[in-house]
Amino acid sequence: MKKLMVVAIMSMVAGVAMAAEDLSKYVEESKAVVGPFGQKLMAANKSAVANGGHESAVGVCKEIAPQMAGDLSRQTGWKLTRVSLKVRNPLLGAPDAWEQKKLQEFDARAAKGDKPDTLVVAEVVEEPAGKYFRFMKAIPVQEGCLACHGDASHISDGMKAKLKLEYPNDKATGYSVGQIRGAISVKRPL
Ligand code: HEC
Repeated sequence: MKKLMVVAIMSMVAGVAMAAEDLSKYVEESKAVVGPFGQKLMAANKSAVANGGHESAVGVCKEIAPQMAGDLSRQTGWKLTRVSLKVRNPLLGAPDAWEQKKLQEFDARAAKGDKPDTLVVAEVVEEPAGKYFRFMKAIPVQEGCLACHGDASHISDGMKAKLKLEYPNDKATGYSVGQIRGAISVKRPL
């Protein structure tokens, strides 16, 4: 009897240890995809601003980012998106309930002094459709984002007119450097 209990406890411990190991494997795999994705976008934004001004930088956020996210989703079989609590494009950027909660926690952690570029969260969630590994990494606002996501003083009249025309329900302005613009989110079926 005693022996049986020990075996049961040991296999429980082993089960938990396995789960933790799997989780860190998934975290590393997500970081390996999300990290370069974020870095490429930041670099593309910087060079577009440097070479062609902000008008041409629109393409980075509007075309390149969703296309890269789509390509990576197809390659990995995960759902990879950019989400935000204040979206410009509600079709692509609106967070689901889990993402919304974690984005709010990111803001709270940043308010307490955590650096936005270090903020990540990983969790296994059970949904009616199945079990998923979920991962999110915060996207900090940089200088090069302000011409389109900053306050009114940073956005040119031309850009204001363009945004008003293309995104009449735009919520993605008023940011300052160091705030969290949103996150790159990964949802992976298990
Ligand atoms: C030249 C203008 C411009 C610049 C500069 C710019 N963005 Fe954007 N951003 C946009 C537009 C336009 C969209 C909406 C894209 C779409 O239609 O899906 C957007 C969307 C986003 C989204 C998706 C969520 C949403 O609100 O729809 C994120 C996240 C984002 N931008 C982050 C950034 C960050 C971080 C920077 C700086 C590194 C940046 N952007 C710089 C124009 C810009």
